[in-house]
Amino acid sequence: ITVYVPCDAAALSVGADEVAAAIVAEAARRHQAVTVVRNGSRGMLWLEPLVEVATAQGRVAYGPVAPEQVPELFEAGFLTGGAHPLGHGLTEQIPFFHHQQRLTFARCGLTDPLSVEDYRAHGGFAGLERALTMAPADICTEVADSGLRGRGGAGFPTGIKWRTVLDAKADEKFICCNADEGDSGTFADRMIMEGDPFCLIEGMTIAALAVGATQGYIYVRSEYPHAIATLRRAIDLAYEQNWLGAALHGSGHRFDLEVRTGAGAYICGEETAMLESIEGKRGMVRAKPPLPALEGLFGKPTVVNNVLSLCSVPVIMAKGAAFYRDFGVGRSRGTQPFQLGGNIRHGGLFETAFGITLHDLVYRFGGGTASGRPVRAVQVGGPLGAYLPEHLFHLPKDYEAFAAEEAMVGHGGIVVFDDSVDMAKQARFAMEFCAIESCGKCTPCRIGSTRGVEVIDRIIAGDRRDENLTLLEDLCMVMTEGSLCAMGGLTPLPVRSALKHFPEDFDRPASAPA
Ligand code: NAI
Ligand code: SF4
Repeated sequence: ITVYVPCDAAALSVGADEVAAAIVAEAARRHQAVTVVRNGSRGMLWLEPLVEVATAQGRVAYGPVAPEQVPELFEAGFLTGGAHPLGHGLTEQIPFFHHQQRLTFARCGLTDPLSVEDYRAHGGFAGLERALTMAPADICTEVADSGLRGRGGAGFPTGIKWRTVLDAKADEKFICCNADEGDSGTFADRMIMEGDPFCLIEGMTIAALAVGATQGYIYVRSEYPHAIATLRRAIDLAYEQNWLGAALHGSGHRFDLEVRTGAGAYICGEETAMLESIEGKRGMVRAKPPLPALEGLFGKPTVVNNVLSLCSVPVIMAKGAAFYRDFGVGRSRGTQPFQLGGNIRHGGLFETAFGITLHDLVYRFGGGTASGRPVRAVQVGGPLGAYLPEHLFHLPKDYEAFAAEEAMVGHGGIVVFDDSVDMAKQARFAMEFCAIESCGKCTPCRIGSTRGVEVIDRIIAGDRRDENLTLLEDLCMVMTEGSLCAMGGLTPLPVRSALKHFPEDFDRPASAPA
């Protein structure tokens, strides 16, 4: 009998290792033959540690399981899917899971992350095998035709970026995967690196074939030690089986891959600061142009893509551009792994086609707030994303629809706040975050963010409020127009959205409590 207990960091943080050990011990005590597989997370974080048992009908889920509950699960016959108050029936019938459209995360939680055989058995390497038979330009065209746009947040068409690198003449080219997932409330990169690392390796190798690169780096934030360890092990296994290295699966192509670790700076997720960091320098933003596609790592043409962009490529290559394009709306094609966090009852990863509304994500699948109080605001797209009020929850998840409301889809993070939130304090936090994380290269961001905190403090204190509100708007304009990168350039987004949608929070009597 096979029992699955996730090795994902979110599950580990709530005791998955202890639960796995308790299952092994209890099975031994009862002389029952049980194989425990450490899978990735299914993404239903409120149920972690989620234990699954393979039955003839499919996997049956139990969670959240505490180690001391393991004997009673055995007693209830969970090894054959027996009923127990922690039981949720078939995992794939749980509404949160059942209503997803999993393309990128299709294998995450299903397979043993470090089994090449399991990966292959679930469609892995089919995309790479196809790419090995194609001309580089045709791979770029396939990815462009799929409509895939940069999932890191900016939404630039991936195929066009690859084509730029392919067309650049150089003796060496690089693929750099941005896994410095720094947005608050986001965890999709981590989850797939821990749960399906070969998917990223395959996506990067396809990118290398498409542009003629021979070396790749995965830049992972140091806060992700489990992802780093899993990736390193997976890379070793891929080398052993010729999916990386000198003669890629019998072809004449070479591609080498290694993991580089960040050191805790949010700005190193900005692509040029990341390149500096990989080069061994301090993570400072470079001016663009030149684009990294033309002069990137060590001055060579470089593909810089987010984890999710690269992990979307294998399914596109395996099933074809038209298959992927078929999902989504408008110019937002395919699926997005949304990450539901903050004050939400059912937090976790929800992958579905673009076009779903915030309302469905927050209420229908997220179950509203964890506190049971009314939802007041949702921040979409990380700390640089806008705060949206309830009357905008009908917005479809679509790059253009969000941009029209001065908001962004970003990396798919959705952080929910209930009615106890003070939006003036959230606006202050945006400026403070920028002041702490600014790389310091340009004045609007370095100085502007500190002045922004002070101005918002004066507004909150009721000190010359109108004058300071005008000053804040001026400052936001200067930061938007004058900053070198998105850090300073987008910080005004949460500030302005808080002012626009929740003006009452900036207009309290000076002595009123928040
Ligand atoms: P950008 O719009 O400047 O560039 C997007 C990408 O397209 C870059 O890789 C750029 O080099 C490339 N590009 C642009 N024009 C090109 C061309 N003509 N040919 C080839 N490549 C081209 O945006 P940026 O500054 O890279 O990213 C900002 C976004 O990052 C924000 O919108 C935000 O959503 C996101 N972000 C994500 C975070 C995360 O943790 N995932 C954290 C912070 C911000
Ligand atoms: Fe550095 Fe901020 Fe300027 Fe970006 S906007 S280059 S983080 S100082």
